Amino acid sequence: MRHGRHALAWRATRDRWEVLVSEVMLHQTQVPRVEGVWEEFIARFPTPDAMADAGPGAVIEAWGRLGYPRRARRLWEAAVRIADDGWPDDLTALPGVGRYTAQAVRAQADAADLPAIEVNTRRVLERVEGRRLTQREAEAAMVKVGAPMVGRDRLLALMDVGALVCRPYEPKCAECPLETRCATRGPFVDGVTPRRQAPFEGSFRQERGIVLARLRTGPTPTALLDAKALKSLVADGLATIAGDTARLP
Ligand code: ADE
Repeated sequence: MRHGRHALAWRATRDRWEVLVSEVMLHQTQVPRVEGVWEEFIARFPTPDAMADAGPGAVIEAWGRLGYPRRARRLWEAAVRIADDGWPDDLTALPGVGRYTAQAVRAQADAADLPAIEVNTRRVLERVEGRRLTQREAEAAMVKVGAPMVGRDRLLALMDVGALVCRPYEPKCAECPLETRCATRGPFVDGVTPRRQAPFEGSFRQERGIVLARLRTGPTPTALLDAKALKSLVADGLATIAGDTARLP
């Protein structure tokens, strides 16, 4: 508990909405980049009602350069659901919220004792156990390996061991609090190499990013934009076209 990343801004809140926003951002974006925008984003959309009222275009604009902008659109849709009907008992009923995010939000904001497995936590647990784990096995391993911690503390402790110590390529086993109970003590489980995020440079994702960055500056003639990327943004609800002009929705 002494060595974790306790200073991260979103760890000081127990507000469900604020935690949900942080988890959605952190799902596909690295911590330092989220650190730069989370507080500003929360100041702009402090509640689901505020985000629902602002409309999808404002959220996509504020999402800035965090990447994977479909998340911004889904977050707005989730805000509308919460604003209209309140928080559902099962958070996976919200658009864009999967099992990990639902459990992580409940563990952090509601002190629920739920084992939420994300990529860092899974790597730690698979190395400790010395084999690949199914979802159910990973959840059971999290409860066992994390004991006596529960809920929020267990989630953040295992996540930080994964991010800071049990690194994908060069784990620092000598510094690891789990070393004595770890079956692997090295980088590989079953010879499986860790997955890397799909390359961005030169990708279609990059092409979409360029078009979206342009639309954030204001309505733009479609002739200036990559047609294929624009079409795919429209299909995802991230842009609209009227006549010869494209804009945020
Ligand atoms: N703190 C809480 N959730 C987190 C996450 N998904 N990544 C990094 N730090 C976090």
